[in-house]
Amino acid sequence: LVTVRDLFKHTADYAGKTVSVGGWVRSVRASKTFGFIVLSDGTFFQPLQVVYHDTMDNFAAISKTNVGAALIVRGTLVETPDARQPFELQAEEVTVEGASTPDYPLQKKRHTLEYLRTMTHLRPRTNTFQAVFRVRSLAAYAIHQFFQERGFVYVHTPLITGSDCEGAGEMFQVTTLDLNNVPLTEDGKVDYTKDFFNKPTNLTVSGQLNGETYAMAFRNIYTFGPTFRAENSNTTRHAAEFWMIEPEIAFADLSDDMRLAEDMIKYIISYVLENAPEEMNFFNQFVDKGLLERLHHVMTSDFGHVTYTEAIALLEPHNDQFEYPVHWGSDLQTEHERYLTEVVFQRPVFVTDYPKEIKAFYMKLNPDGKTVAAMDCLVPGIGEIIGGSQREDDLETLRNRMHELGLKEEDYGFYLDLRKYGSARHAGFGLGFERCVMYLTGMGNIRDVIPFPRTVNNCDL
Ligand code: 4AD
Ligand code: MG
Repeated sequence: LVTVRDLFKHTADYAGKTVSVGGWVRSVRASKTFGFIVLSDGTFFQPLQVVYHDTMDNFAAISKTNVGAALIVRGTLVETPDARQPFELQAEEVTVEGASTPDYPLQKKRHTLEYLRTMTHLRPRTNTFQAVFRVRSLAAYAIHQFFQERGFVYVHTPLITGSDCEGAGEMFQVTTLDLNNVPLTEDGKVDYTKDFFNKPTNLTVSGQLNGETYAMAFRNIYTFGPTFRAENSNTTRHAAEFWMIEPEIAFADLSDDMRLAEDMIKYIISYVLENAPEEMNFFNQFVDKGLLERLHHVMTSDFGHVTYTEAIALLEPHNDQFEYPVHWGSDLQTEHERYLTEVVFQRPVFVTDYPKEIKAFYMKLNPDGKTVAAMDCLVPGIGEIIGGSQREDDLETLRNRMHELGLKEEDYGFYLDLRKYGSARHAGFGLGFERCVMYLTGMGNIRDVIPFPRTVNNCDL
C-alpha cells in the first residue's frame, strides 16, 4: 500500500501508475453510473479523492458503503490540474476491509468539539483532531531535537515518588493498601509498613528534583514525561494528567534559563510551521484567524520582561475590571496574566522575581530577602505556559527555607546532598506540553489537545 502523503508529495512520480491505498471512508457520493469516495488514511491532512464507475462488479455495493468503513482501493492516479484537488484515484478495484454501520457517529457535517469529546476513540478521524494530533506529535519531536542538538541528556524521572516537588499538596496517592480495610498502627494511624513501598507515595507532580540530580552530573539535561496534579480546577487549561518538559542547566542563572525558554519556544513554532503547513493553515482558517500572523510575530520579536513588582504596578490601577483584585503579595490569576500578555505586551512575556511566599521551596532567594529568582512565561490567549527558576544552591539558605515551610530534612536528603557535594549555580523550567500545543494550534480547551484527557470527573477511556 502507498500512503496518501506520498501521493500528494510525489504526485508526478505516480501519475498514470496503478497504486493501492488503504483508508477510512469520510464520505461517499454516488450517481447511477459513477461515484466519489473521500478516503483518509491519516498520513496526510488532505484526504484522497477516489472515482469509481459502474464497470466494477460491486458498483452497487460500494455506493452503499457506510461512512467510517475501512477500504482498500486499487486504481490509477490521474492528475486533475483544473480541479480543486491536484489528482484523483480512478478505482479499478475496491475491497471492503471492514464495513461500518449507518449509526457511525461522524457523519459528514460539522460536529462540535463538545460532542467529539464524548468519543475520544473516534475523534482522531476528524479534520480538526487529525491536525491537532499531527502537530502535537511534531512538536514533541521538535522539543527532543532542540535539546538533543544542544547536547542535553534526556533523563527518565520516576512517576511514583515520595516527595511533593511543588509543595502544593495536589497529589494522587499510590498505594497497595485495601482502602476498605486499611491496616492501622496501635495509635490509630495508617500502617504504611504494610504498603508496597513502606511509606506513603504519590504520582509525581514534577520531575524537577530528580532532574536536578542529573544536572549536577551531566550539566544540561531535560525530562519529557507525564505529570499528575489532583487539582480540583475545572478550567480549560488544567488537566489532572499532563505532559511536562523540564530542562535543568548547571552553571547557569535565571537569565540563561529565560534565554533557553525563549529559544525553545521559537524553535518549536518554526518547526511546526515548516513541517505541518496544511494543518497550520487549517487552524488559521477555521480555529483562530490571527494564528499564523501571531506566531510569525513571536518568532521575529523578543519576549517581554517585567518583574513581579512592576507587573503589580501595571495591574493595580485596573483592579476594578478584575474578578480578583491584586496587591503586592497576591498570586497572579489567569485574568491578570492575560491582561499583561494580551493588553500590555501583546506578545509572550516573562514575569520574574515573585514573592517567596507564593513560590516553591527550592527557588533561589534574591538579595532583597523577599523575592525569589523565579520566572513565569505568559502567552496571549492562555496565560502561563512555563514556570521556572534559578535553584537555591546554598545549603544553609535552603535548610532555613525548608524549616520555614515545615519540610522534613530527612525526606530531602538527596536534594541537600547536591548542595553539599559540589553545589553549582543552576536553573530550570517546566513547559506544560498541552498548553504549548494549545498555543501552537489556537485550540481553546486542554481537553482537545491531549488524546485521552483526564480532568475532574472524567476518566472514560
Ligand atoms: O509552574 P509549575 O507548577 O512548575 C513546576 O512544576 C516546576 N517544577 C517546573 C520546573 O521548574 N522544572 O508547572 C510548570 C508548567 C506550567 O507553567 C503549566 O504550563 C503546566 O506546567 N501545568 C499544567 N498544565 C496542565 N494542567 C495542569 N494542571 C498544570 N499545572 C501546571
Ligand atoms: Mg507555575
